[in-house]
Amino acid sequence: FRDHQVILKHVTESTNDDVKQCLASARSLSAGTAVLAEMQTKGRGRRGKQWFSPFASNLYLSLYWPLPQGLNSAIGLSIVLGLAIAETLIGAGIQDVSLKWPNDVYIQRKKVSGILVELEGQAQGEGHAIIGIGLNLALPPESPIDQPFTAISEHLDSILAGKMLDGKTLDRNAWAAELYSRCLTFLAEHDAHGLKPFIERWRELDHFYQQPVKLILGQHEQTGIALGIDELGAFLLQQGDEVKRYFGGEISVRDI
Ligand code: BTN
Repeated sequence: FRDHQVILKHVTESTNDDVKQCLASARSLSAGTAVLAEMQTKGRGRRGKQWFSPFASNLYLSLYWPLPQGLNSAIGLSIVLGLAIAETLIGAGIQDVSLKWPNDVYIQRKKVSGILVELEGQAQGEGHAIIGIGLNLALPPESPIDQPFTAISEHLDSILAGKMLDGKTLDRNAWAAELYSRCLTFLAEHDAHGLKPFIERWRELDHFYQQPVKLILGQHEQTGIALGIDELGAFLLQQGDEVKRYFGGEISVRDI
């Protein structure tokens, strides 16, 4: 982690809040400043949900990324980070990794990781992103999680010998280092070239590509065929002869 400040904590409320505090107290914070914790007492997920954050085994990582062009430039962050996590898993040898827009990561169609991007600043002018990643390295099967989930420990057989493994157990430091450095590389690439270099790969891993889906937008829902994302990170839905772009909402496979 040379040249980057990574703060390690045993217990914390939420690593996203820790990064926010760093941001509030430092006159300037360098891109990629990160907090990693062993356990969170108030782990947050998206849409006001809790993120189950038991001691050890899992990774709770938050990092700071500046948005000098303002918050409008933030839309692709979730996409890019989801891909960084997916490539970390694939690089370790794990198979059947997929992505769900905007940023959930799945193994064998069960969620293994989630991302919470929180923004501070204005639409125009300087903005700040606090990017939180939760990655299930190991989880008890009876964990209180309200959707199908998995953890990397359930896929040890497919992990390449010697890589990310310490004997027969997961090397948590190796996972943290690999994930963190991939996030930094992808974020820098996104700053330089936007989403364009990522779209094709994202589509290859898209959980729902060319499948009938239901997009839930608050009280409303839209149905259609999922066609991946565009260069702004919008979700593309074929509805009749038209392809419509959506920036918000939550996707689920349409039950027919
Ligand atoms: C989701 O709902 O899928 C997003 C989950 C994000 C969880 C991570 S764990 C590290 C960071 N700290 C938090 O409180 N949340 C994020």
